[in-house]
Amino acid sequence: MPSVLSPDQIRDANVRYHDVAADHYDAKWGIDFGEIGQEQVAAKVRKALGREPTRFGRSLEVGAGTGYFSLNLQRAGLIEHATCSDISEGMLETLRANARELGLQVETVVADAECLPFADGSFDLVLGHAVLHHIPDLSRAFAEFERVLAPGGTVLFAGEPSRYGDVLAAVPKRLASALAPLWRRAVRAAPLPPPPAGRQDAALEGVVDVHAFAPAELAEAARGAGFRDVRVTGEELVANWFGWANRTLEASADPDDIPWAWRIYAHRGYLLLQALDRTLLESRLPPAIFYNLMLTARRPPA
Ligand SMILES: C[S@@+](CC[C@H](N)C(=O)[O-])C[C@H]1O[C@@H](n2cnc3c(N)ncnc32)[C@H](O)[C@@H]1O
Repeated sequence: MPSVLSPDQIRDANVRYHDVAADHYDAKWGIDFGEIGQEQVAAKVRKALGREPTRFGRSLEVGAGTGYFSLNLQRAGLIEHATCSDISEGMLETLRANARELGLQVETVVADAECLPFADGSFDLVLGHAVLHHIPDLSRAFAEFERVLAPGGTVLFAGEPSRYGDVLAAVPKRLASALAPLWRRAVRAAPLPPPPAGRQDAALEGVVDVHAFAPAELAEAARGAGFRDVRVTGEELVANWFGWANRTLEASADPDDIPWAWRIYAHRGYLLLQALDRTLLESRLPPAIFYNLMLTARRPPA
């Protein structure tokens, strides 16, 4: 996905897009900080590591957004001291509000992943979810992750779009787009009204994503920065097709008109297919065809 924008323009677009998205981000993506959210995030960490996780001492999340990963991991008892960084102050403001509501202590720092304002060896875990694909220079970012990790520390990323998974997911998205008018008639929903004047997130949506990865590219970015024991896995195939088809239909309608029964069907169906992916497909098919890629690696011990 080569970008025509300069790295500074990509960073600026990310700040503006996510500052605007911050106040409706959790609702849009169904982010949960209860038992469901904790189990989702702990399961991703388990899957990425390929083992039961042990408690990490000091963690740094890059592109932490509203706190989906760090706050849930803290609640699940998997991290002790959480530092959350993001290039968007708006997202961190929402994260602090979420942390206050949950009674959690976190440090928040506005920072670009390519230039982290932390001393060498400050953390035992550097993590992120759905952030690497926004970063213009991945080699610089991985060099920073390696520098701020203590020797023997772990880097862990999840939710990164895979190039072939993205191509496959375009099919259900296109189908759902074509069927959207019929679907809206069936559920008696009006078309989505235009966004309020001044909302720039729709216009910026197409420029904030700058990569979709082949597994080998992600692994190479980590190895190039000196990481060892690099492991890249894939997750979500049929669950993702189902999820994108439903999301495309829903995005075409006024959210207030979408029937509750439909939302329950979409949510339960997604969970069911996620279980099918997990138990049958993820261990048998190549990571490249799944929609999301996960990476873990270790900074070599001193
Ligand atoms: C798709 S959101 C994911 C947020 C959160 N990790 C989650 O899973 O809900 C991507 C996040 O990365 C942040 N981001 C984008 N570019 C960044 C950069 N160069 N450095 C640090 N954060 C960045 C955005 O501001 C946004 O909060």
